[in-house]
Order: sequence, then structure tokens, then C-alpha cells
Amino acid sequence: MVRQKIAVFASGTGSNALNIISYFENHPQIEVAFVLSNKADAPVVDAARKLGIETVIVPNERIETPGVLIDICKERKVNGIILAGFLRKIPMDFVEHYENRILNIHPSLLPKYGGAGMYGKLVHEAVRAAGEVETGITIHYVNSEYDKGEIIAQFSCPLEAGEPLESILEKIHRLEMEHFPRVIEELFTRS
Ligand code: GRF
Repeated sequence: MVRQKIAVFASGTGSNALNIISYFENHPQIEVAFVLSNKADAPVVDAARKLGIETVIVPNERIETPGVLIDICKERKVNGIILAGFLRKIPMDFVEHYENRILNIHPSLLPKYGGAGMYGKLVHEAVRAAGEVETGITIHYVNSEYDKGEIIAQFSCPLEAGEPLESILEKIHRLEMEHFPRVIEELFTRS
């Protein structure tokens, strides 16, 4: 099987990005080719560099420019793109070029609590306010609409009545660390 190269796009802390990098370190079939961020000072950038992973910064004003992201990925011959806390909308030309090869992780059981403006703590606050008895994570393909692409996998966890936000965040984090790299591995070693 041809070695699969993946790019990880992230904007913040990057706990998912770093977990993916460490999971695929020395993997026989998959390698993380580089980390792309829209923020030069995002903690994920520094942390990825320290691990010896190439980092590419594309400021917000350049992301929408047609061809920019495609050229970066083509040059590095990537087969897939993983959005792990990437807080910018992906341009249409890129989505079309890499159809069914861009994955996103969302910290709720989509279609609930998804869409524009639904990210980070806002998602969990909404889940809490609605008195949900469970929440979870969704791994899905990226299409032209926020959080609307085909769902690949979902993992859930129960919630107690009035469960504190911190505790919800921790449960979600645990699910993300456990499942995201494995789902990526399964998808990119399939053919
Ligand atoms: C995660 O909760 C992920 O589900 C969402 O953004 C968050 C990123 O966290 N898309 P981190 O930067 O990986 O720590």
C-alpha cells in the first residue's frame, strides 16, 4: 500500500493535533506531513515544531485566496487533511479538490449543536442548558456547510443532571484522544 501522508490543520492548543502526531509517529503506513495553522502564535505551532513536524502558517486573509491551500497540500503530496480545532471556514475550491478526503472533529453529537458559531465551550454550554443526558463527538467529512458533511463516526458519553462544564470538557477530551486517531487510521488504510 502507498504510504499515506496527512496534513493536520489547527488553530489553538492542538491537543488533538499533537495526539494524532504521536499516534502516527513510526506508523508503517501513515505519516503526518505537516501542521497548518492560521495563527503563528497558536500553541500547536510551537509544540509541533518541537516534535520536528513542519509547520505552515497561512494568515486568515490568505486562506480564502483560491489555490493557496491546494498548492501547499499538493506540493507536500498529501492524501488527506484533518481539521483538528481549525477555526476558519475552508474555501470551496479546496473542499472540491479534496472531496471526501477532509475530516473534521466536532465536540457534539451532530446534527445537534453544530453550525456556524458553535465551537469550543459554546457547544458544551448549549448541551448543558438543554439538559441533555448524553453528549459526544462526531467525526465527519467536510463539505460546503459548517458541520453538515457526511458523518463517519460518533462516540457518546452519558451526562449527569447539572454536570459542570469542566467535567463535560474532560469527557469530550477523553473521547477525542481515544477515537480520533483510530478513525483516521481506519479510513486511510482502507484501500
Ligand atoms: C476539539 O474539541 C475539537 O472537537 C474541536 O475543537 C477542539 C480543539 O481542541 N473541533 P484542541 O485544540 O485539539 O485541544
